[in-house]
Amino acid sequence: MTAHVIPAKWTTAFTPSSMLILGVVLAIAYAAYRRALPKPIPGIPYVEESAKRLLGDLPRIAELQKAGKKPSDLYFETVRLTKSPISQMFFLPFGKPMVIVSDFRETQDLVTARSKDLERGSYNNETFGGVMPEHFISMNTSDPRFKVTRGLTNDLMTPRFLNEVSAPEIYRKMRHFVDMWRFKAQAADGRAFKAYEDLNFLSYDIVTAAALGIDDSESETVQHLRSLRSDMPPRSPSEVPTEGEFRFPDFSPSDLMASLLTLVEAVGNSFAKPSPKLFHALNNLRPAMRKAWSDRKRILQQHIDNASARLNREGDNFKPVAALDYMVAREVSSAKKEGRRPDLSSRRLHDILFVYLAAGQDTTHSVMTFLVKQLGAQQKAQSKLGQSLRDAYPSAAAECRQPMLSEILQAHVPYLEAFIEEVLRLNTPIAGVSQQTVRDTTVLGHVIPKGTQLLFLAEGPSFHGPMFPVAEESRSESSQKHADAMLGEWVDGAEFRPERWLRKPREGGEEGNLVFDPKAGPFMTFSLGPRMCWGRRLAYLELRLVVTLLVWNFEFLPIPPELDNWDTYDLLIHKPRSCLVRLSSALEA
Ligand code: HEM
Ligand SMILES: *[C@@H]1O[C@H](CO)[C@@H](O)[C@H](O)[C@H]1NC(C)=O
Ligand SMILES: *[C@@H]1O[C@H](CO)[C@@H](O)[C@H](O)[C@H]1NC(C)=O
Ligand SMILES: *[C@@H]1O[C@H](CO)[C@@H](O)[C@H](O)[C@H]1NC(C)=O
Repeated sequence: MTAHVIPAKWTTAFTPSSMLILGVVLAIAYAAYRRALPKPIPGIPYVEESAKRLLGDLPRIAELQKAGKKPSDLYFETVRLTKSPISQMFFLPFGKPMVIVSDFRETQDLVTARSKDLERGSYNNETFGGVMPEHFISMNTSDPRFKVTRGLTNDLMTPRFLNEVSAPEIYRKMRHFVDMWRFKAQAADGRAFKAYEDLNFLSYDIVTAAALGIDDSESETVQHLRSLRSDMPPRSPSEVPTEGEFRFPDFSPSDLMASLLTLVEAVGNSFAKPSPKLFHALNNLRPAMRKAWSDRKRILQQHIDNASARLNREGDNFKPVAALDYMVAREVSSAKKEGRRPDLSSRRLHDILFVYLAAGQDTTHSVMTFLVKQLGAQQKAQSKLGQSLRDAYPSAAAECRQPMLSEILQAHVPYLEAFIEEVLRLNTPIAGVSQQTVRDTTVLGHVIPKGTQLLFLAEGPSFHGPMFPVAEESRSESSQKHADAMLGEWVDGAEFRPERWLRKPREGGEEGNLVFDPKAGPFMTFSLGPRMCWGRRLAYLELRLVVTLLVWNFEFLPIPPELDNWDTYDLLIHKPRSCLVRLSSALEA
C-alpha cells in the first residue's frame, strides 16, 4: 500500500508562498461571508438572531410552521418581537433588508400622498410575474405597458358595466347556490357541514360568469347539485347520525378551475422563497404545473374563439354578457382602426383574463368563508342584519319571495355594508402589500435607501388593536399637515363590531338613520393609492349579493364548540382551516 507516502503535489502545497495564497483565499472567503451577512439599516429594530445568519429571517418560517403557524405570520411575529411601528427583516445573502411598516397613518401617507417615492418593485415582478407577466399586476407603475394594459380593462369596473353585465350573471349563479344549500340544509337536518369547498365553487362560478359568461348549466354549483341529487337518495332520519358533522360526497372541480387553483397556489408558494424567480422556473417543470398551463391556454382560447364567433355572427347586434366579450370586441375594433389583423391569442389577453379569474376567485373565496363563519358566530349581528334586509325589501318579505336584483341594486342597507366591511377588516385575506422605494425615502424618521422593499401590514397594530406610540415630529410633512384627517387606530380592533362603520348623517341628513362610513377608521384590505385593488367594486357587488341572499334564505346557527376552529393558513392569502355551517331555512322555497 502506498497510502503513507505523501504525494509530491502535497509537499509543494505547503511552501510559504502557497500558505500565503491559502491565507488570502481564506481572508477573502471570510470577508465575503461577512458581506453576505444581513446589513441592518441603522436604527430600525430587527430580530437579533436573524442578523447573525446568511439566510436571515428565512429559517424562522420553518419554526413558525412547526408551531402550527403560517408563513405570512412571519411579518406580524417580527413586529410583535420588535414592538416597533417600523422593523426590518433579512432574506438573501448579500440582499437588502425588507422594511415592515406597522402603522396605518404612515402607510396611508406613503402609499397615497408619497406614492411617487414608491414602485411596485422587483419582488412583485418575480412573484406575480412568474405566472402573469403580461398583466399590469406584475408591472411597475412607471412601465409604459402599465397604462396600456390598465386602459384595456378599466371599463370592466364601471358601475354601468357592473350593474348591467356582471350583476345579472352573479345573481343567477347565487340563486343556484341557494338551491344547493337548501338541499344540503335539509339533508343535514341541523348538523354542521363543510362550506369551504362549496364557497370555492361559488366564487369560481361568479368570477367565471363575470369574466367569461358561463352558461348556468355549466356552473360548478349546478353540476354539484345534480350529482348530489343522484348520489344521495333521501334517507330516513334513523339512518342519519345525530351528532357531529354531516359529510356530503366530494365534488371535483372542472379542468379550468383546477388549473386556476394550481397556478394561484404557485404564486402563493413563491412568496416565502429566497428567489421567487428560481422557484417558478423549477416549479413550472412539474407535470401538474404543465397540465395547469396547457389547460389554462386551451380553455381560455376556446372561450375567446366562441366570443369572437358570436361577434362575427351578430355584428352590430352583439351584446357583451361578460368581460371577455367586451375585450374581444375592443381588440377587433382597434385592429380595424389601425389596419391590422386582430390578435385574439395574445399572451396579454390570456393574462388579463387569467388575473380576472385568479384575483377575483381566491380573495372572494376567503372573504366568503369568514363571512359565513361570522354569521354563525355573531348571532346578534346576524339577526340585526336579517331585520335590516326585511326593512329594506318590505314587499319581498310580505310576498315571501326573493328580493329581485333590481331591488338589491337600488337599495342602501348600511348595516349590510358595515357587516361586510367588518369581516374584511377583522378577517383580512391579506397580511399586507409590498412596494419598493424609488429614491432614498424617510419613513418614521429613518432614511430608507433607494431600492428597498417596504411591506405595509394590513393586520395587527392600528387595525386590530392600538398602534405603537410614534413621535409626531418623526412623521412626514404631509402626514403632519393632514394630521386631523388621518385615521389612527381601532383601539378595540380585536372585537367584531359592525357598528364601528356606522355614523349619524351630517347636517341635513334624516334623523335616526345611520349611514355607512367606509372612512371611519384604519382599513387596508384592498390596499390604497394608485395600486389599490382594481377589482374592489366587483368584489363589493358580489359580496352584497351573496350575503343578502344567504341571510334572506338561511339562518346560520352557531357551530358546536368541539367543531369550531378559527385557525388560518396561507396559500396566496389567509383562509380558515375549517369552515362549517349549520343552517336552518329561514324561508320556504
Ligand atoms: C374581497 C376581495 C378582494 C380583495 C381583498 C382584494 C385585495 C387586493 C389587494 C390588497 C391588492 C393590492 C395587491 C398588492 O399591492 O400587492 C389587489 C390588487 C388587485 N386586485 Fe384585488 N382584491 C379582491 C378582489 C378582486 C377582484 C374581484 C378582482 C378582479 C376581478 C381583483 C383584481 C385585482 C387586480 C387586477 C389587482 C392589481 C392592481 C394593480 O396592480 O394596480 N381583486 N387586490
Ligand atoms: C421597477 O422599479 C424598481 C424600483 O424603482 C426597480 O428597481 C426595478 O428595476 C423596476 N423593474 C422593472 C422591470 O422596470
Ligand atoms: C420583470 O423584470 C424583468 C427583468 O428586469 C423584465 O424583463 C420584465 O419585463 C419584468 N416584468 C414586468 C411585468 O415588469
Ligand atoms: C364553444 O362553443 C362550442 C360550440 O357551441 C361549444 O361546444 C363549446 O363548449 C364552447 N366552449 C366553451 C369553452 O364555452
